[in-house]
Amino acid sequence: MQTTSFQQALSLARAGAKPDVAWLVPLLACADADAPELYRTADTVRAAAIGDGVYLRGLIEFSNICRKDCAYCGLRRDNRGAERYRLTPDQIVECTREAESLGYGTVVLQSGEDPWFTAERMADIIRRIKAETKVAITLSIGERPEADYRLWREAGADRYLLRIETTDPAIFAAIHPDDDLEERKQCLYTLKKLGYQLGSGVMAGLPGQTPEILSRDVIWLHELGAEMIGVGPFIPHPATPLKAAKGGTVEQTLRLVAVLRLVFPHAHIPATTAMGSLDPKGREKALMAGANIVMPNVTPTTVRPQYEIYPGKICTGDDARHCRGCIGHRIEAIGRTVASGPGHVVRKK
Ligand code: SAM
Ligand code: SF4
Ligand code: FES
Repeated sequence: MQTTSFQQALSLARAGAKPDVAWLVPLLACADADAPELYRTADTVRAAAIGDGVYLRGLIEFSNICRKDCAYCGLRRDNRGAERYRLTPDQIVECTREAESLGYGTVVLQSGEDPWFTAERMADIIRRIKAETKVAITLSIGERPEADYRLWREAGADRYLLRIETTDPAIFAAIHPDDDLEERKQCLYTLKKLGYQLGSGVMAGLPGQTPEILSRDVIWLHELGAEMIGVGPFIPHPATPLKAAKGGTVEQTLRLVAVLRLVFPHAHIPATTAMGSLDPKGREKALMAGANIVMPNVTPTTVRPQYEIYPGKICTGDDARHCRGCIGHRIEAIGRTVASGPGHVVRKK
């Protein structure tokens, strides 16, 4: 097979070539010496397509109770050491008001797969938020039946984040004892059909993952038509079956962020908390390699440390106002601006 060089691959990316393993792999697996050029190119593509504004999404981690047992996650049901909590609907609405008062145009409601939040309870919360605030609502609460997704959309939810985590059938099966890859894909197709602004993504550095596998993930996300793509390094949690795994790195994730920006010039790509947790400048590095979103935490500090999906998570002791100030300074320090408004996805006509 003919191999594509880094420079040839970058030229294809710049020319907007259809994503293909043949040129994605040389970028995802590029040498350290080539990485700065990859990041600069992605940064230029980002600036030309969507400008310098960074949208802030206020993250509300409203329950760490989960019926699932994903092998990588500290919230998995078999982690008996996790101290569980669930915010009340009133508390969730209150957090949303606080997020709005801090200037956030969007809240992300995220949780474990907690059955207490029935379709109707969740719909009530969405309706209350929509009646009492002007924020856009992103849901990130896992796999549900189509009827639930439909009810929440009708109640006013704007966006949904559901990472595919990996499209490799063997890896997906090994880390998801409760899930089926085809069913997860079906959830994403359903969310798209219902008109949600659609977010998905993967973890970088899962056991067994290769640049070829990651490139197939990128191609699949492209076929799906994902409009928001969240990627972060996998960080092994000591109370999970993957505690001894190597985990992902900042450098590997930066290459992936940059490649995603080249393939999706207009998408919303967050500089994830996991990046900031592995490296104090991880989020800034991601913003300079193609990312345009940050998700500061607005969860009450009383429960924040308990949403421990991986160890060493940042911001667990800092209140919402502190994080708002911190992230604003970080964005300005790299010459970018905080964008205002809901920051809906950009859809081509
Ligand atoms: N329960 C919902 C779900 O699974 O989609 C939302 C919450 S879940 C904690 C959000 C994301 O956290 C997952 O999609 C996964 O990619 C990420 N995550 C979980 N454990 C992680 C780990 N150990 N390292 C990095 N990211 C992790
Ligand atoms: Fe639950 Fe989501 Fe963690 Fe899986 S990734 S255990 S569904 S919170
Ligand atoms: Fe939370 Fe910096 S963003 S302390």
